Amino acid sequence: MKHLIDPMDMTVEEIDHILALAIDIMANREKYSEVCKGKKLATLFYEPSTRTRLSFEAAMMELGGNVLGFSSANSSSAAKGESIADTIRTVSCYADIAAIRHPKEGAPLLASMHSSIPIINAGDGGHNHPSQTLTDLLTIKRTKGRLDNLTIGFCGDLKFGRTVHSLIKAMARYENVNFVLISPPELQVPEYLKEDVFIKKNIPYTEVVSMDEVMPQLDILYMTRVQKERFFNEADYIRLKDSYILDLEKLETAKNDLAILHPLPRVNEISVKVDDDPRACYFKQVECGKFARMALIMNLLGLDK
Ligand code: NCD
Repeated sequence: MKHLIDPMDMTVEEIDHILALAIDIMANREKYSEVCKGKKLATLFYEPSTRTRLSFEAAMMELGGNVLGFSSANSSSAAKGESIADTIRTVSCYADIAAIRHPKEGAPLLASMHSSIPIINAGDGGHNHPSQTLTDLLTIKRTKGRLDNLTIGFCGDLKFGRTVHSLIKAMARYENVNFVLISPPELQVPEYLKEDVFIKKNIPYTEVVSMDEVMPQLDILYMTRVQKERFFNEADYIRLKDSYILDLEKLETAKNDLAILHPLPRVNEISVKVDDDPRACYFKQVECGKFARMALIMNLLGLDK
């Protein structure tokens, strides 16, 4: 049985296969409308979510399956003190596959050890978010036509941003990808990740504080929200929350075919005026999320053969 806990759980070939399947689903929606008939997806969300949970649920419905679950820890027996292990043993009796979001790093991995159904990590603390990575890769593939030979800038909270961590790991496996890490010194990519992904594999990366100096070289700009809920004290959050605000003026020096991505939700780090710029891809990215998850569900259930 397969789970998706970390983007490295999948080979590059498997990822490419899922992306190709997602692209085929987009073009032939009818063909896939009953693939998951009789199957159930459980969404177990111990943390807030709009896109991830709803796109998983919409994905399963579009495949002809059904969904069940909870959208906050308060509305599940977690509020009574039940362990994640007991919860997943229970859910394994009701559903065929489960997506779990949890504030604690490693919780979906723990769940997978007690589960008899495939588990998808839908975000664990400041750690990983591999189904968002599939979404991001699909968006990049559709806008740039490739996943290699790209310069990608990650901007904002690179310390706590789990979507950043997972996408860095995934992109580092493609040829000739240049990484530009734009953040205040306090919110840099964690050392363990730089060591594992860049240093051990000799992959070049640069770290800068200002986005202005690197803007002209970027093919992709991946903006992120400062992750308020992961800060240990509010004063630090307040000091850092407005570190970057992308507006049309900042984009003046950018390439005409820059692709601006953001996993959303946005707070204020991208001015709404940027939304109408043809380089803004973050709502297209939302759409890709549903199709990437349809392909992922099919893959983990072994229905893509
Ligand atoms: C992200 C997350 O939950 O990590 N949102 C998402 O799933 N699209 C990003 C965020 O919350 O900032």
